[in-house]
Amino acid sequence: MSNDLRYDGRVVVITGAGNGLGRSHALLFGARGAKVVVNDLGGGAHGGGKSSAAADKVVDEIRSAGGEAVANYDSVEDGDKIVQTALDHFGRIDVLINNAGILRDASFAKMTDEDWDLIYRVHLRGSYKVSHAAWPHMRAAGYGRIIMTTSSAGIYGNFGQANYSAMKLALLGLGNTLSHEGRAKNVNVNTIAPIAGSRLTETVMPADVVAALKPEFVSPLVAWLAHEDCSETGGLFEVGAGFMGKLRWERTLGHNFRGRSFSPEDVAAKWEKITDFAEANHPANVNESFGPIMAEMGKPGKGGNEFIDADEATSAA
Ligand code: NAI
Repeated sequence: MSNDLRYDGRVVVITGAGNGLGRSHALLFGARGAKVVVNDLGGGAHGGGKSSAAADKVVDEIRSAGGEAVANYDSVEDGDKIVQTALDHFGRIDVLINNAGILRDASFAKMTDEDWDLIYRVHLRGSYKVSHAAWPHMRAAGYGRIIMTTSSAGIYGNFGQANYSAMKLALLGLGNTLSHEGRAKNVNVNTIAPIAGSRLTETVMPADVVAALKPEFVSPLVAWLAHEDCSETGGLFEVGAGFMGKLRWERTLGHNFRGRSFSPEDVAAKWEKITDFAEANHPANVNESFGPIMAEMGKPGKGGNEFIDADEATSAA
């Protein structure tokens, strides 16, 4: 018992916590001493409607198990109100799990502006708004943990999910940059790509698969990433069905034309080498991405190249 990871005194905001993954995260944090803000608009899986019932039910579950929680029914588009709920009730915000989500699947040929805009507003703008409202409080406290929820549909693409894929992968970009900007203030930002049986997936998966993909198999990773003992930041993790693993970028050694002029035919002639992963490297930031290439061309800036200065300036800001 004494080795349990605890969250006593920590205030955890979880968006979309009335169902599925968010509910599972909320119950875990609530059981381990956190003060939980259970946010949920209480709408349908496709973005319509509104009800306080979903958030209230999870708050009741946490409280009846002896935990502390408060409900918030605002849309993530009103992120400042959600963060204000944490401040009003608990005086601080330590952890933010950006989890709220809906689907508006359609093939790109049939996708409407409404499908696109709604998914943008809930996933990308919503995660931005809540994170942006939490950010100054975490920076001022010198402590914060933020989790973004992306999707394999965003990482790999998926038929019928152009809107969702675009916004989900944008969340990885947002999380990656926030991990740089938050580092100096002990604000760690990671991204998960979960898979779980929920009302979002029950329509596309067989019932036995939905049952096997318990949301409870995702929450322990979220809890660890949100703990003060975890120093991980800027990570991307696939998680579900009891599996969890980290992803990274892989780049072929490629071919360098070394500043000489070259033609499309030259590119075609080198295509095998450009696309050959037999030997590869794994750039983890912009310096590792283009720094060595610039340096090889004799263009290193102060401290390596110009990217380093930009990165350091921002993380210190
Ligand atoms: P869910 O539908 O069970 O739960 C999502 C919750 O978000 C709902 O309770 C809903 O009312 C709430 N919500 C929707 N719009 C909101 C808004 N504007 N403001 C506040 N709350 C809002 O879905 P699930 O499966 O638990 O998904 C959670 C997150 O995980 C979503 O971001 C989803 O895209 C992501 N995800 C889920 C996967 C899965 O296999 N279930 C796969 C990949 C990503």
